[in-house]
Order: sequence, then C-alpha cells, then structure tokens
Amino acid sequence: MSEDVFKKIVSHCKEYGFVFQSSEIYDGLSAVYDYGQMGVELKNNIKKYWWDSMVLLHENVVGIDSAIFMHPTIWKASGHVDAFNDPLIDNKDSKKRYRADVLIEEYMAKIDEKINKEVEKAAKRFGESFDEAMFRQTNPRVLENVQKRDEVHARFAKALNDNNLEELRQIIIDCEIVDPISGTRNWTDVRQFNLMFATEMGSTADGATKVYLRPETAQGIFVNFLNVQKTGRMKIPFGIAQIGKAFRNEIVARQFIFRMREFEQMEMQFFVRPGEELEWFAKWKDIRMKWHKALGFGDKKYRFHDHDKLAHYANAATDVEFEMPFGFKEVEGIHSRTDFDLSSHEEYSGKKLQYFDPELNKSYTPYVIETSIGVDRMFLSVMSAAYCEEELEGGESRVVLKLPAALAPIKLAVLPLVKKDGLPEKAREIIDNLKFDFKCQYDEKDSIGKRYRRQDAIGTPYCVTVDHQSLEDNTVTIRYRDTMEQERVAIDKLADIIADKVSMKNLLKTTL
Ligand code: GAP
Repeated sequence: MSEDVFKKIVSHCKEYGFVFQSSEIYDGLSAVYDYGQMGVELKNNIKKYWWDSMVLLHENVVGIDSAIFMHPTIWKASGHVDAFNDPLIDNKDSKKRYRADVLIEEYMAKIDEKINKEVEKAAKRFGESFDEAMFRQTNPRVLENVQKRDEVHARFAKALNDNNLEELRQIIIDCEIVDPISGTRNWTDVRQFNLMFATEMGSTADGATKVYLRPETAQGIFVNFLNVQKTGRMKIPFGIAQIGKAFRNEIVARQFIFRMREFEQMEMQFFVRPGEELEWFAKWKDIRMKWHKALGFGDKKYRFHDHDKLAHYANAATDVEFEMPFGFKEVEGIHSRTDFDLSSHEEYSGKKLQYFDPELNKSYTPYVIETSIGVDRMFLSVMSAAYCEEELEGGESRVVLKLPAALAPIKLAVLPLVKKDGLPEKAREIIDNLKFDFKCQYDEKDSIGKRYRRQDAIGTPYCVTVDHQSLEDNTVTIRYRDTMEQERVAIDKLADIIADKVSMKNLLKTTL
C-alpha cells in the first residue's frame, strides 16, 4: 500500500461520514478530529470489542471510568512533569520541527527496506531453489547494509538510554539525514519539550491551581487501585480496564488520526505478584495479538516490536505494530511497569497502596503489566485494512469496506425496489422488527445498483431488497457485501441469518 491509498482512505473517511476535521468551518484545528455518523458507530463497536474481551472474558478484570482532571501531584509522581518529553530538532531552512528519534527510526527502516528488496529480487531470480537464510548470511550488499543498520541502532539505543541529546543530533548528521521538505541538513540542536496540556482550576482570585489534561488514562487506574481491590474484593492477579480520552501537545502531529492532540485510549493494568511479571507479560502479549488477528485481516499485517529504550518505569516493553499504508506502526503498547507507579504514588501521597496476599501471608506492592491501545489508531488500522477498490465485470468498479461484520456501522440496509406499490411500507415493517437488534438503514433513492455501492462504501455486510414478490410470499433477496451474491430468503429467517454473522459473541470466541 502507498501514500496514495492513504490519501484515498482519508477522503473516503470524510465523504462517507466517518471522520471530519475538527472546527472545519473555521479552517480546522490541527491534529484534532471529529467522528461522524458512521465513524462513531465503528468506533463504538471497536470499543465494545475491546471492553468485552477484557471485562466479559476475564473474570478477574473489572472496568472503571475515572475523571480527566486529576490532582496535579499525580503527574509529578508518574514522572510526566519531569520526563514526559520528546527530543525535538528543527530544520533551519524549512522551519519545520521533527522528533529526532523518529528521523533516526525512519532512516533505519529505509535500510531494512533495502535489505528486503535485495532478498525479494534474489528470490525471484532463483525461484524455488532460493535459500533465504543462506542469502542473508552471505550476500555482500545485504551484509553491508545489516552492519550499517546495526551500528546506527547500537548508537541510537545508547543515546536514548543515556538521554544524550547531542549524540542524537550527531547520529542525524553522520547518517546524512535530510529534511524531507527542504532537502537540507541544516539542523538545530536537539531539545526536550513537555507534552502535557495545562489549564487552571478555580477562580484566579482564590489562587487557581494548575491542573493538567491527562496524557494517559493509566494513572486514573493506579490511584484507584485500592478502592477497586477493597470494594470488589479482588485477589491478585487481577486487572482494571478503562476507556477514555487523553491529551498530548504533540509537536509532530501528522498522518490524520494516527497522532492526535486529543485521542482515546483503552488501557488495562494487570496487578501481579512481584517476580511473576515477566510470565504475565508473555501471556498478555499472546492474548492481545490473538485479539488483533481475530479480525481476519491477515496475520502478516501484525508484528511485535520490542523496545530498545525502556521507559523509566518498565522492565520489558513491546509494541504491537500494524501495517498501515505508510508502513508498520505502533497501535498498542504492552509494558511491564514493575511497581514503579504504585510505589511512587505511595511516596507522593503518603498513603499505603499495598496488597495483603493471604496465600503468602504477607503484604507487598504489586507489579503491573499494562496493555495500552489507542482507539483512533485501531480505527485507522481497521479502515486501512478494510478499504478495497475492486474492478467488476463490465468495466465497472466499486469501493468496498470489508469490515468485520461485528464492527460494521450499519449491519443491514433495507431497500424497496421501487418507491410505490406498498414496497416502502413492507421495507419499513422489516426494519421495525429488526431495529432492536441491528443498526439498520432504509434507502429508496436512486437505482438499486447505486444503493448497493453506497452501502459497500460504508461496509454494510447485508442489503435486503424488497420487491413485488415479497408482498406475495414474504421473501426478500439478501445480498452479501463481499461476494455480491444474492439469494432469496424468507423474511422471518432474516434475524437469524444476520445475527449469526454480525455477532460480537462469535467474534470474541475466535480470540480465545
Ligand atoms: N499508558 C501508557 C501509554 O500511554 P503510549 O505508548 O504513550 O503508552 C499508548 O500510548 C497508545 O496510545 C499508543 O500505542 C497509541 O495507540 C495511542 N496513542 C498515543 N499517543 C497518541 C496520539 N498522539 N494520537 C493517537 N493515539 C495515540
């Protein structure tokens, strides 16, 4: 897939009511987006898929909904006031600002691409007799590139770990990385920039307090750890899940809803015995990857990317990456956060946040495995994977969103063949029966072909056409989005046919 396809997905999102630029009539607000009538349904279905997989399928995971505003000391304790920074570099010619780490990561990804192209070319040349492992070990061009990449990688990982901003800049200079706009290497120094939005609570006359818009939902879970554990009589290991808005003053806010200033997270903190965290880390990696793959977009679209630089709170971390139109990108982070957060909140609040383990007969501060996924990034990955342009017989073409039926915004469109002879009334009758279970849409405008195309473009898995025969024998034709096949079925069978395919329960079963 290419940038070109990405542009088409962005305009498709707008044209069909999935995502709009925020404040568009005032020329927009950068990196802030609104979800339209289709987008909100898809987004809600993604959230339900996540929530049910966490809270329904795991007896020991419960949910909460904490406030966006929190006591400002929380962000001191979490490290966000002092360490929630991006290393930024400016190009003096284009006057554009970039994340220095992203520039270097993109450079390394380009070397990887070169290596893979070399391997692909050779695979084509040698056909079935091709031994990829041997080729990678012996081909001089591949070896040279691997060495180049490994050297940069080692320097990069060390610079990040040492928080060495000068070295980050030096890597950019030594690798001759140019600004994508000006094409020059006229770089400033690398500087740190805090990403939290601040505002004031209370009137200025009383002495207002500076508060932050939360940059992650996780801290709302940590500070409620004991509330939930005690009132829910939870036994370790157990998890607390939450879906909610988060805010970051991203400097390099690009790529549509991939990096936004206001976004939504689905986070789960799983509290475990100290010493058992890496076992649970492996388990949650496995559970989360199954959840992604169950959507059926193809296993090759996902991979893990283990972190070189561990955040100040983590002893293991990985990303689930998805192949977006602009390359493999992080959709979810899975972190082993040790007891950093709970211990830090104990220290700053002066309150004990410990658990008495009846089996061990002792108290301890639990360790935490976190799974954290962005709703909007997940939305973008689903849209990217589902978007298809198809050539049809007779020179026609269609754009179809091959969304998993359980996530589709509209499950069923009911279309009277003509706007008369009692067909609209019959169509309405069908909707009136089905609307309690499925989001339905009625459409009587334009030819039936055009109406099918409209439903394809929003990913509706089923179109039901009501014709004159329907009035006589209570049957309709049902058309399947992906195959475009049609069959005649009894109206009273519709609910069962549709329920089976769009069921969230059936989708959830495939995650186990
Ligand atoms: N509590 C851990 C945490 O927040 P993170 O890796 O910073 O970790 C987790 O964020 C997820 O949130 C990311 O994998 C991504 O899906 C989403 N996310 C982070 N920043 C985002 C942004 N500016 N716009 C959209 N999604 C974002």
